[in-house]
Amino acid sequence: MSQRTLVLLKPDAVRRGLVGEILGRIEQKADWTISALELRRLGRELLEQHYAEHVGKPFYEPLVEFMSSGPAVALVVEGERVIEGVRALAGPTDPIAAAPGSIRGDFGTIVRENLIHASDSEESAEREIKIFFPGLA
Ligand code: TYD
Ligand code: MG
Repeated sequence: MSQRTLVLLKPDAVRRGLVGEILGRIEQKADWTISALELRRLGRELLEQHYAEHVGKPFYEPLVEFMSSGPAVALVVEGERVIEGVRALAGPTDPIAAAPGSIRGDFGTIVRENLIHASDSEESAEREIKIFFPGLA
């Protein structure tokens, strides 16, 4: 089942020079294609749309501070079961609970600075792709 998903390499990944490493893991998966990619600084308005489900939660403000603290890489990845697949590469939200071998498990310690975002469903993916790449069909 071919799908597409919205992936963010968060400001900690860019700051720490992990963009190539993380993109490499995604690129190496058979038959997945990166169909859009952009380095950019994320503003509060865009983040409020992106993280709409979390607005008002205790971690929301520090999350927005962090996500807007430096440039991030936004990309769209297409391919076989890519929504579940990128989330599996990423590992669970808490990097300490994430298995070694996963991106968060290999490189993260802090929940907020967990390196990567990946859409969690087809509905989220379509919603998030529209936010980051409105020109993409
Ligand atoms: P969430 O959507 O629950 O996690 P995921 O990114 O795995 O889909 O949360 C969004 C981001 O918010 C998460 O990547 C890191 C941050 N966050 C916190 O800082 N503290 C928390 O307690 C949670 C649940 C998330
Ligand atoms: Mg989420």
